[in-house]
Amino acid sequence: MNKLNIANDYIKNNSNFVNEQYRLKYHFIPPIGWINDPNGFSYYKGEYHLFYQYHPYDSCWGPMHWGHAVSSDLVKWEHKPVVLAPDEEYDADGCFSGSAVEKDGDLYLMYTGHVNPNKEKPENIRQTQCIASSDDGITFNKIKENPVITERDLPENALPQDFRDPKVFKKDEYYYTVVGSINKDGSGQILLYKSEDLIEWKYVGIMIASENKLGKMWECPDLFELNGKCVLIVSPQFCEKEEDRYWNIHSSLYLIGDVDFNTGKFSCEHVDQVDYGHDFYAPQTLIDDKNRRIAITWMQMWERNIPTHDKKHNWAGAMTIPRELELRGNALYQKPISELETYKTNKVSFNNLTVDGSLRINELSGECINLEMMLDRKNSERFGIKLVYSAYEYTSIYYDCQNEKLILDRSNSGEKINGGEKDVEAGVRRVPVKCNDNKLKLNILIDRCSIEVFINDGEKTMTSTIYPSSPSLNIEFFSNGEIEILELNKWDLCF
Ligand code: FRU
Repeated sequence: MNKLNIANDYIKNNSNFVNEQYRLKYHFIPPIGWINDPNGFSYYKGEYHLFYQYHPYDSCWGPMHWGHAVSSDLVKWEHKPVVLAPDEEYDADGCFSGSAVEKDGDLYLMYTGHVNPNKEKPENIRQTQCIASSDDGITFNKIKENPVITERDLPENALPQDFRDPKVFKKDEYYYTVVGSINKDGSGQILLYKSEDLIEWKYVGIMIASENKLGKMWECPDLFELNGKCVLIVSPQFCEKEEDRYWNIHSSLYLIGDVDFNTGKFSCEHVDQVDYGHDFYAPQTLIDDKNRRIAITWMQMWERNIPTHDKKHNWAGAMTIPRELELRGNALYQKPISELETYKTNKVSFNNLTVDGSLRINELSGECINLEMMLDRKNSERFGIKLVYSAYEYTSIYYDCQNEKLILDRSNSGEKINGGEKDVEAGVRRVPVKCNDNKLKLNILIDRCSIEVFINDGEKTMTSTIYPSSPSLNIEFFSNGEIEILELNKWDLCF
């Protein structure tokens, strides 16, 4: 039997053996096994397609396959058979990350073939770019011309062992792809290639090089136009901590600027971190028939222990809620896709509540909920909410009025999560945000083991996983000094 059939049979026969305790309800999760990056996120023939880095056989990373799911609304996903398995000489040790583009009615996947012939000698690793095509979006064939971009197509300064994650797109007459690469000096760069047919590729140039200023290898690039500018998203490994940024071992950044498609050069005007929580890596975007630019991201981080793996729950990893992107000035705004509205029920609302000390509101409890609020900081020093709160455990989100920062603290959230980061407070992440006219607006999505916070209409976001040891459903406001909850709405989110 071939590797694809083996994987698909395994999933069918074993998916009943996942432990349900932390399974998210309205976020994408695998039927069984490990997932990382979203791949091939696309809108094709009237449906949304999500492919993803997949190791079905264990809840840890292993030889990469591409899993697949389809949705009509980006919330409810239907699992489809695995589409790529590492079964060719050029991808023998993994079908690594990549993307999708439509051509003449067919869907094409462009991915990285990973070959690691001698585990003792990482310098022998080779990564090349490959294509698979499909006329129904379900069954894919790797093309005979593979690999289509190889080490021969690299600029002289680049190493052939770190050359991956092509994001392909069409612009005017040509297909282009941006690919992550590493310079011989150890720093990241993004390369641009161009093609008429997705098979013959011509190297255009180095779009941007980090010159050892922003981390090492730059993974998972994405390039798109948004509100008249070019946005380049990259995920650099090992960025050094800078104030509140880059506290995770690897980071996801957005760069705003312009591209010269003749030389490939990206002139960068602004850089920021996409999300300020603990678990957010390798975002990928699509554009749909409504012309919306939508991102989805792996809601995890490398070099972390994952409680569902530690506890042998047979699965690990989830995707964020898909987020619609918008550029306002230099800020990349993110908001949950509007389709989520359909799944909101049991609305509970409050207005004009004063908090001075603490306030528990029993009607707000729930495991899979959306909380929206507008808070007036008045003259308080610090105020916030304890979420997913039980006798011993809680996660807090609070505003430090003096330093004008929102803080997410998962130190007491439940199962211990440790990362590979050094010199940071493991449980805490901070983001600088201003109150507008003393007001702070928060939109919070909780789905059993995830929290996503959209601050001031999505100007900044924080995304973190939490694993309460038993269902912890309560919510409590707290403040040092008086604040007012001007508006507060809560919904349950369920199918
Ligand atoms: C990013 C990444 C990619 C690679 C894939 C392998 O998370 O390291 O660079 O293609 O994961 O699973």
